[in-house]
Amino acid sequence: MKRLLFVLGAVLAAMLLALLWQVENPEWKEYQRAFLATGIAQGQDDAAREWYGEQPIGIREIRVDALRRVDRCTTCHLGVEDPNFADVSEPFRAHSPPLTGHPPDKFGCTICHNGRGRAVTTLAAHGDSEETPLRLWRGVYLQAACFGCHNETTLPEESVAAVLAGKKAINQLRCLRCHQIRGQGESEGPDLNGVGSRRDWVQIFAHLLNPQAMSPGSTMPNFPLTRPQAEAITVYLLTLRGQEREVYDARYRVDRVETTSAVKDDGWKMRGGAWNVKRSTSEGTMIEYDGQALFNDLGCVYCHRAGTKGGAVGPALTRISRVRDVEWLRRFLQNPAAVFPDGTMPQLYLNPAQVDALAGYLTTLR
Ligand code: HEC
Ligand code: HEC
Ligand code: HEC
Ligand code: HEC
Ligand code: HEC
Repeated sequence: MKRLLFVLGAVLAAMLLALLWQVENPEWKEYQRAFLATGIAQGQDDAAREWYGEQPIGIREIRVDALRRVDRCTTCHLGVEDPNFADVSEPFRAHSPPLTGHPPDKFGCTICHNGRGRAVTTLAAHGDSEETPLRLWRGVYLQAACFGCHNETTLPEESVAAVLAGKKAINQLRCLRCHQIRGQGESEGPDLNGVGSRRDWVQIFAHLLNPQAMSPGSTMPNFPLTRPQAEAITVYLLTLRGQEREVYDARYRVDRVETTSAVKDDGWKMRGGAWNVKRSTSEGTMIEYDGQALFNDLGCVYCHRAGTKGGAVGPALTRISRVRDVEWLRRFLQNPAAVFPDGTMPQLYLNPAQVDALAGYLTTLR
């Protein structure tokens, strides 16, 4: 009996220690130590090395009262304004395009990127969670953010081209027969104001492709949308934010066109639908993704069935590894449009680490 108690006690103590270690060494601390070590290793002179050596470890927070935001993204994204980190992998890389026109202390990050500002783990901060509409806006979806303060008169049209195309499609397809947008339209379906805050963009995209699959018994017609149309409408709907996420502060609205030369010269210009931005690689990334968890968290599960769970907007993937090998899956997940040009699976802007983890998981489905 005594012996058993002793063993039990030892096991409990070990568990407690493990828990303590986790509390004392959260993910963000590891990033901060790695960032400072890189800074010291790369520092050009003693003063620079000393500077990195003296930086405290701690949660970084940007409070922007005017935008009602508290963003802790820079707890991990430590190099966004540091030119020494132009060629380092995420989360340390200097921001490209540059943030000089939108300095972090006045803008924070979530006003453009969405995400959960207060969170300090990668998955929570990036809003990759099934229940929450806070998924990061990336690539073309960032246009919805720009449009909140600028519009087509203060930015070159190509910078908000998807928003404009989405607006046009909504008129052509006469969505206002059933929906209200900004006080106009009918009420057979829900008011679309605020839909950009109520739903994450993958959910909206999925709903447009197949309303009945997302909402059984829905009377919304199944429009035969192409991928670019569904994408554009989704981007436009994201500009319809809820009360609490609107940009009210007039100081943040841009009314005049002074930006043209800046847009031409720096990375803000859209090229062929993509930002002229340095892409991150998974090299040196410390995070290890779990493919099965990602399948849920990234929203694949809204559209696809895997095992017993999932939606029916896209094909069931329950036995996908019998027909597709890992190389094919990688290629497809990186860029669905390159493999199925006429398909409707959205570009999800997955990074290489996510692609690998998902492809690995899908090959276990047989
Ligand atoms: C706990 C650390 C952490 C926090 C907090 C964090 N990030 Fe990240 N972020 C990362 C890491 C790590 C990567 C690189 C992931 C990868 O490549 O696997 C990354 C990548 C990104 C990317 C590139 C997307 C990609 O997957 O390549 C964007 C955009 C981004 N973060 C935005 C944000 C925003 C906005 C916030 C705040 C709401 C935020 N991050 C908070 C760790 C963090
Ligand atoms: C004015 C809008 C804006 C603000 C504010 C902003 N970003 Fe960005 N960010 C962008 C755009 C646009 C891109 C290019 C995105 C793309 O091509 O996918 C980008 C790219 C990134 C990337 C690289 C993602 C990739 O695609 O590889 C990271 C990481 C990132 N931002 C983090 C941050 C963090 C952290 C903050 C806050 C300090 C921030 N951003 C503030 C607009 C913004
Ligand atoms: C919260 C409001 C807000 C958002 C969101 C926003 N901007 Fe701005 N932007 C501003 C303000 C304010 C200025 C400064 C205008 C001035 O100096 O007169 C500015 C300046 C600029 C400039 C000129 C300075 C520079 O950085 O070169 C460009 C270009 C620009 N924004 C593009 C964008 C793009 C593209 C997006 C979306 C990714 C975006 N902005 C999102 C408010 C915003
Ligand atoms: C014949 C009527 C009808 C038309 C036309 C219609 N919808 Fe709907 N829509 C509905 C109904 C009813 C619902 C609620 C049931 C559901 O979720 O599908 C709905 C739901 C939605 C939702 C989900 C809203 C939420 O809060 O979850 C979105 C987004 C949407 N519609 C967008 C559109 C767009 C964009 C168009 C035009 C391309 C359109 N709808 C055309 C009837 C319609
Ligand atoms: C908005 C709905 C939607 C989302 C979200 C989505 N898919 Fe798809 N997916 C589709 C559609 C539709 C197809 C059919 C091919 C096409 O039209 O592009 C497809 C096809 C596929 C295929 C190829 C099946 C085959 O053998 O032809 C794979 C694999 C796949 N998706 C994996 C994923 C993964 C992994 C994710 C999450 C990272 C995901 N999908 C997210 C709609 C979606």
